[in-house]
Parts: sequence; C-alpha cells; structure tokens
Amino acid sequence: MEDKRDHNTSPSSLPSLSKQLASSTLGGSADVPVLDLSVSDEDFLVREVTKASEEWGVFQVVNHGIPTELMQQLRMAGKQFFELPEAEKETVAKEEDFEGFKRNYLGGINNWDEHLFHRLSPPSILNYKYWPKNPPQYREVTEEYTKHMKRLTEKILGWLSEGLGLPRETFTQSIGGETAEYVLRINFYPPTQNTDLTIGAAAHTDMGAIALLIPNEVPGLQAFKDEQWLDLNYVNSAVVVIIGDQLMRMTNGRFKNVLHRAKTDHERLRISWPVFVAPRADMSVGPLPELTGDDNPPKFETLIYNDYIDQKIKGWALEDLPVY
Ligand code: OGA
Ligand code: NI
Repeated sequence: MEDKRDHNTSPSSLPSLSKQLASSTLGGSADVPVLDLSVSDEDFLVREVTKASEEWGVFQVVNHGIPTELMQQLRMAGKQFFELPEAEKETVAKEEDFEGFKRNYLGGINNWDEHLFHRLSPPSILNYKYWPKNPPQYREVTEEYTKHMKRLTEKILGWLSEGLGLPRETFTQSIGGETAEYVLRINFYPPTQNTDLTIGAAAHTDMGAIALLIPNEVPGLQAFKDEQWLDLNYVNSAVVVIIGDQLMRMTNGRFKNVLHRAKTDHERLRISWPVFVAPRADMSVGPLPELTGDDNPPKFETLIYNDYIDQKIKGWALEDLPVY
C-alpha cells in the first residue's frame, strides 16, 4: 500500500509519460506570477491572487510577513536532521500511517528522495514522536513556523474567497476552520546524474486544498501549463503557493489544481519544505452551492475527504505506471 498522501502521481491529470519526457527539456522561462503582499491596495491583491489561481494554480508571494530569519532557521534545522547518521533518522521512521521519515530512492515510479512527514496542526492530532529531537531547536522553530503558515494560509484563503464574491472566511470554514490539517513534508533530493529519468517528485497534483512551499536555493520545481513544463525561478525569501485538488473541486473547476513535479539537480542538494493544508478527514468536500447553479451545475461529486484520498490512492494502484 502506498503512503497515504504520498503526493505522487495523480492519474486524473497526468499527461502521458512520453509527453512529459518530450517536453522535459523545454523548461520554458518561468512566468509564474510573483505577488508582492506588501502593497496597500487589498482589492488589487484579491484580484491578483484570484487570477493567478484561475490561470496558473501556482504563484509565489514575497513580503508575506514571515521573518527571513525564521525561514533560514527552518531550513537549517531540516538540513541538519537529514545529515544525521541513518540510525538516528530511523528513530522517527514511518510506521503504519504516513507520518515519519522514509527513504524513497526509485521507490514508487521514479521518485528519488528522502522525506520526513509530520502533522503541524491542529494540536490535538500531533504525534511528536515523529518530530526530530535532533537538532534540539527543531520543535521550537517548527512550531513558530506553523503559526506563520496558518496566518498566511488563512489570509490567502480569505482573498480567494473574496475574489469569488464570497465572505472572507468561506474557504477557511469549508476546510474545517481551526480543525483543518496542516502537514509538513521535508523533501531531501540528493544530486543525480540522469535528471530526465530520475525525477525527484513525479508529476502530481496535491490532494489537499492548498500548499505553501519554501525551497532551498536550488531550483527544480516545475509547473505544467499550456502543454509545457515551466521552471519556477528561485526568488529569495518567496513562498510558493500551490492550489490543490480540493480548492479546484470547491470552486467547481474555477481554480486550477496545478500539475507539478520536482527535478533533482546534477550537482547540488535540493531540499523543499511544503506545508499541505487539507480539510479534516471526515468533512464533506465538493463544489460550493454558492458557486454552482442551473447555468453551472456541479462537475464534481461531493465526497468525504478521507474517501477522496482512498479513491485517489486506488487510482494510482490501477494505473499501469512504468518502472525504470
Ligand atoms: C510535494 C511537491 C515539490 C518540490 O512534495 O508535493 O510538490 O519542489 N514538492 O519539492
Ligand atoms: Ni506537490
């Protein structure tokens, strides 16, 4: 059984592998929008964030209020953990659920990474046994970062709600408000020689509502748009915002759940820190009644989020994916 939420390939939106490979060398220039959140005209931000979610499903934000120093501390703590001896990393190894440390070299289809997964929020469902004890500042730094992730997520969800003419709290409430689940994944991609066949993270869409990701300074994240893989530029201190399946479904397809993947670098170590924000597992999620009607009937079934995850994982199992 694959990990739950292992964020691999989405069968529903995977372009054929030959197309992926054919276009993989194009690496078009990155026009992924970069939005400056310090502008005082909030209506402008609402419009820009909404437009980027409709056209791209991915954008970067700068001047987002997360202290650069905290971002650096988070990066440092994660890197220090992955540099520990194997035996020490195994102390937080994945067990039956998805949380924990896992090596994934050429496991699955062609993923090449090690990763650490653990929940960040709500406090009632945290499993601190999966939080590294080493480096010692890991917990404090990560808890501080979580506060900022929640604040920024709710701000963006507020703008996205308003952009569609809905009350500001709509999307936050639709994923459970304070009970929405925040999960951190640290992806650790060592350098590889053959980057065309050895993908760090295979093409996929994120299952949750939205993800906020910071990378280290090594580029590798690509978004699929207009039949091409486009590189995301590394923008110092930016946070990458990725629209996931549930915001696409809630908006009846108006927001794009962007297909994306991560390439490894030939020489340099790449690390990324996505925080996935998802509805509580028992919540029903589907097109919002306010966004559907006779002239725009629901295109997606309303599903308990946990059932959605099971269906998606079953879909992967049924796919006849090539193994290199
Ligand atoms: C993910 C993901 C991209 C990256 O973990 O879901 O899309 O840049 N990662 O590592
Ligand atoms: Ni992803």
